[in-house]
Order: sequence, then C-alpha cells, then structure tokens
Amino acid sequence: MRNYLKALRRTLAVGAVTLAAVSLQPLHAQAADDPGARPSPTVVGGVRAQQGEFPWMVRLSMGCGGALYTQRIVLTAAHCVDGSGANTSITATGGVVDLNSTQAIKVKSTQVLQAPGYNGTGKDWALIKLAKPIAKPTLKIADTTAYNNGTFTVAGWGATREGGGQQRYLLKADVPFVDDTACGQAYGGSLTPGEEICAGKLKEGGVDTCQGDSGGPMFRKDNAGAWVQVGITSWGTGCARPGYPGVYTEVSTFAADIKSAAASLGG
Ligand code: ARG
Repeated sequence: MRNYLKALRRTLAVGAVTLAAVSLQPLHAQAADDPGARPSPTVVGGVRAQQGEFPWMVRLSMGCGGALYTQRIVLTAAHCVDGSGANTSITATGGVVDLNSTQAIKVKSTQVLQAPGYNGTGKDWALIKLAKPIAKPTLKIADTTAYNNGTFTVAGWGATREGGGQQRYLLKADVPFVDDTACGQAYGGSLTPGEEICAGKLKEGGVDTCQGDSGGPMFRKDNAGAWVQVGITSWGTGCARPGYPGVYTEVSTFAADIKSAAASLGG
C-alpha cells in the first residue's frame, strides 16, 4: 500500500489532479468480477486477455505489474519498490489472468534491485528475484531502438478509470507510439526523453494504463513475430486523457544495465 501511495504521489507530482486512474479505459464498462462481461460497444481498444496469452505477466503484491525477465527475475518499475537489498516481503502471482484462480502460482521475493541512481525522474526500472522459478515463458527485452515505434500492447490488473479499483482479471489494450516532441509538449521538463517512451491516443485519449499497472510491460512483436518488451509502465497525468499519453521506461536505454543487474542476481 505504501508503494501504491507512492505511485499515486508520483502521478500527482507531475500535475495530475486525479486520485487514481483509468487505464485500459475502454474496459471500464466491464465489471471486474464478471467473467462474462464484454466491453461496451461505445468504448474502443481494450479487452480481457486470454489465459496464456501473455504468460510472462506477473502481479506484485504491492499493487504493481511486472514481467518475467527470467523465470526467477521479474522486471518492474523502480517506483514500485523501496530500494535495493534482501527483501522477502513481495509476493509475485503468475500463470493466470484471474488473480483469484486456484491455478495461480504465488512466489515470494528474496531480493530487490532498484535501478542505480533512481531518484524519481527517469530510470524507472527494478528487478525482483524470486525464491523459486515461475515456470512460464519469459519476455525478452528490446536491446536496440528498432522497436521503439509502431503500436504497442499494454496489460495489467490496474484501474480501468481514474479513481477506479484494481481488477481481478488481466486487461490489455493497444496504444500507438507518441514521439518525444509531442510527448514533451504535454509534459515539458517532467519528461526525460532519453529514458522514457510515450504511448497513447494523443488526440482522443480513451486508452491507457492506469494506477496499479505500473511496472507492467509495454510490448510489441519483433520482425520475427516474437513479443519484445519496449517499455515499463511508469506515469502519466491522470489516465487516458486526451493530450496526455502514458509514459513508460524506455527499456532499450537500460537493456545492458538490466542484463548485468539480472546477472548479479544470479539470473
Ligand atoms: N504510476 C502508476 C502506477 O503506479 C501508473 C500510471 C500510468 N498512468 C498513465 N496515465 N499511463 O500504477
């Protein structure tokens, strides 16, 4: 909860007047606890993820998302954790879209590595080492800028509207890349262009990540058709507002750091 509040504060710090937020907003007509619900025809872009569609998606107990970088290491956001060192307080839930499923795989953390130099601006990445593997496919990270364009997929169990509750079922949505110039027009000096990548429907809004999606991956297909992680959900002003895209950690910038940090945790 402390981290959730921290995330909230971060959003407020960048100028949002909202308390919490909408993400995957097209889904807000869909009841979180109703497996049969369907998105309203009046909303665009978001739907429930299918079981097994994004097998590397993980929910973290402080109220964030993450992705399996290896079966023993979750890549998440720096603002989701409190620092680096031994830490057995986090539970990662994997292997399911339904957090209440009896099939859910729940594993405790052993260590946390927060991005070196993280101070609340940029560098919003962290690794969580798990006590045992989550035996599911992992998500590779982009190690060049080649895929920092096009349309991305985002997913998470976060809020479906500003101020909304967390979700039981994993939601996904597609968001187009927004370049640094356009994103900088929204966020000015709060954006760190070399370390952050923006995405969203700039003009119309309506699709975005939101509170509780932080730390989760933003990803797309590479030229070989494999999923590759290009972003980590980080912040935005409110959620899904026209003119205010979502801001994601630019994974390619930190790929080498992430790789060596993961090695230092034993892979
Ligand atoms: N900071 C939020 C969290 O901790 C993520 C906010 C993303 N906001 C957005 N408009 N894309 O969950």
